[in-house]
Amino acid sequence: MMPLLHKPAGKGIFITIEGPDGSGKSTQIDLLVAWLRTRTQPVLVTREPGGTPVGEAIRAILLDPVRHAGLADETELFLFAASRAQHVRERILPALQREEIVVASRYADASEAYQGFGRGLPLTLVTQVNFLATGGLMPDLTMILDIDSAEGLRRAKGVAKETPPGEMDRIEAAGLAFHQRVRDGYLTIARREPGRCVVIDGTGPISSVAHAIRACVTPRFGL
Ligand code: TYD
Repeated sequence: MMPLLHKPAGKGIFITIEGPDGSGKSTQIDLLVAWLRTRTQPVLVTREPGGTPVGEAIRAILLDPVRHAGLADETELFLFAASRAQHVRERILPALQREEIVVASRYADASEAYQGFGRGLPLTLVTQVNFLATGGLMPDLTMILDIDSAEGLRRAKGVAKETPPGEMDRIEAAGLAFHQRVRDGYLTIARREPGRCVVIDGTGPISSVAHAIRACVTPRFGL
């Protein structure tokens, strides 16, 4: 399949941070972005689902644990993809054209890990839906924060931001076996694409994980 969207020539860099729920992405993205901003070109920090007004509206549907509890897996896949299609065109590509660094919390790999490996939708179809959404535009670097699934869920429950304290959003609530498949899915993706993906142990102290992330970014991009 030929890409529909091309990364613009120039200094733009596209980095994604992925990992199971509770792997510490948000904390590490804050630290990475603060560090990048002290030493280089402008940084756009963004997330999926979300990143645009329509994406944030889709996010609210996807994560609501009560009103949309019965969402079909296929519907879920298309909603994540819809958020992504808008995100890449409205925010990611324009930022790369401005030669910024884009740091995104989750992207196409999340659909493969969660809707493919997790929900069990056929991986070939998830890949095709992803391709339509991304236009073939993939990150220069994907860092996968890895954590044991039970520990991740414990952490996610403690820090849930979009649900009342102690409660889980619709996807966090999908159960341990689901989250174990998601974790294995991420590790499978990383093995398949070692040039793009790096697995980082997310269980250590915050500062050690942050150090590992910077050590990954620095040599690749000369930052
Ligand atoms: P995220 O914003 O990373 O959650 P949090 O900030 O609470 O850690 O992602 C929200 C949830 O959506 C998370 O459980 C992962 C899930 N997700 C998918 O299932 N598929 C996708 O394509 C994406 C982008 C996220």
